[in-house]
Amino acid sequence: MKILITAGPTREKLDPVRFITNRSSGKMGYALARAAQMAGMEVTLVSGPVDLPAPEGVRLIRIESAAEMAGAVFAEAPCQDMIIMAAAVADYRPAEVAEQKIKKQDGAFYLRLERTTDILAGLGKNKQPGQILVGFAAESENLLTNAQGKLERKNLDWIAANSVSDGFGTDTDTIILLGKNGERIQIGPDSKQNVAVRLIELTQKKESGSR
Ligand code: CTP
Repeated sequence: MKILITAGPTREKLDPVRFITNRSSGKMGYALARAAQMAGMEVTLVSGPVDLPAPEGVRLIRIESAAEMAGAVFAEAPCQDMIIMAAAVADYRPAEVAEQKIKKQDGAFYLRLERTTDILAGLGKNKQPGQILVGFAAESENLLTNAQGKLERKNLDWIAANSVSDGFGTDTDTIILLGKNGERIQIGPDSKQNVAVRLIELTQKKESGSR
């Protein structure tokens, strides 16, 4: 079984010394890559900049921006049996990237942002027959309603809903796994590695109860 996993934040450049990013540590994506590798899968990990060692036995593709992640993921996607988008992909990037360092001036500075490609929605539109697509939803409110909306809009098989109020960069997690057939399964609280192992076990099936 071939699986593609994304992890970490993206960096959206503003000028040669500045970028916009987010607080994703990449720990869950890397834990998933290890869990999948231990389950005997052939793993490709597309990772934003994180402070984590490359998991053994995993093919690692390093990227920085959302556009680079989209390029890598769309190139690899057609031959994958399963794809898990655990990365915290930026939804917006600076509309202009300055070639030289931006100098300060008097008064306010207004930054115009433009949308990035929604990679997961693109994967959902072009889902291969039998391919299993898993997303993540990090929410600060209305966890289940928002996650359910993303599951449907992006044509996913599963979505892992997790509350950002639990903090960032921690080694433990709680997830509610929502399935396209109405499944709702709580995983954790437990170590991220144990949550990842359970998530891989459950999502390998198109729906709970099959296979
Ligand atoms: N995602 C993606 N490409 C993007 C943004 C997000 O593939 N440009 C993926 C993430 O990897 C994650 C899921 O989509 O699996 C998150 O859904 P999204 O609707 O983007 O959630 P948020 O980024 O939290 O945005 P919002 O809640 O504002 O809709």
